Amino acid sequence: MSLLEVHGLRAGYDGVDILHGVDFRVAEGEIVAIIGPNGAGKSTAMKALAGLVAVGAGRIVFEGEDITGLRTDHITRRGIGYVPQEENVFPSLTVRENLEMGAYIAKDDPGPRIAAVFELFPPLEEKARRPVRELSGGLRQMVAIGRALMLEPRLLLLDEPTAGLSPRFVGEIFERIRSVNARGVAVLMVEQNAKKALALADRGYVLAMGANRYEDTGAGLLANREVARMFLGG
Ligand SMILES: Nc1ncnc2c1ncn2[C@@H]1O[C@H](COP(=O)(O)OP(=O)(O)OP(=O)(O)O)[C@@H](O)[C@H]1O
Ligand SMILES: [Mg+2]
Repeated sequence: MSLLEVHGLRAGYDGVDILHGVDFRVAEGEIVAIIGPNGAGKSTAMKALAGLVAVGAGRIVFEGEDITGLRTDHITRRGIGYVPQEENVFPSLTVRENLEMGAYIAKDDPGPRIAAVFELFPPLEEKARRPVRELSGGLRQMVAIGRALMLEPRLLLLDEPTAGLSPRFVGEIFERIRSVNARGVAVLMVEQNAKKALALADRGYVLAMGANRYEDTGAGLLANREVARMFLGG
């Protein structure tokens, strides 16, 4: 059984469909990448999965249960963590406070959860008391991912986790994503650094104009000449 199955998802804004019936699947423990041109609807798909954009039609099934149309906080409680493309941290709060915010719906002491995040993202520990606005883009992205990990999700949705980062940090963030995944968290990520994302991913999807275009293993998509020419810059 897949961890996540998305069937015929339609979603958009103000009654205009951006996604015209897309299908995705994430198996337990997989890393899956979604690539595609600007405006393809990648973020819209992630928002729909997170309950932030209304689903017009289709079905979202997580761990065998239909979660279509559930509220964001209910989706989060079921074990789906979401890191938006933009505004994914509270800049004026410290690193520790940002992480605490991620676990506000849990009633227990956040200490052990924070310790677990620091284990995955060691550079955050020494910055724990610094406001996030003082951090580099790479560290901010670690805070954003760490915050989503605070509720110990089984699936992590990452919308462009390496956007705008220097090449060194791009590599580092992908390494951290690999470690998160090695702890048993499945990952569905949207990426503009498409070649690197496909190299990391077990499987990938190419989304264009709100529809599925290609679906294969990461290696298969990288080796596909049409995909390379049209979506990977040759
Ligand atoms: N809040 C919104 N209201 C109206 N239209 C929107 C909204 N957000 C996005 N759109 C439109 O939906 C389409 C898909 O946007 P989306 O952000 O999902 O694309 P994307 O694939 O994530 O692109 P990018 O690679 O630039 O992040 C675009 O035409 C965009 O202008
Ligand atoms: Mg986007």
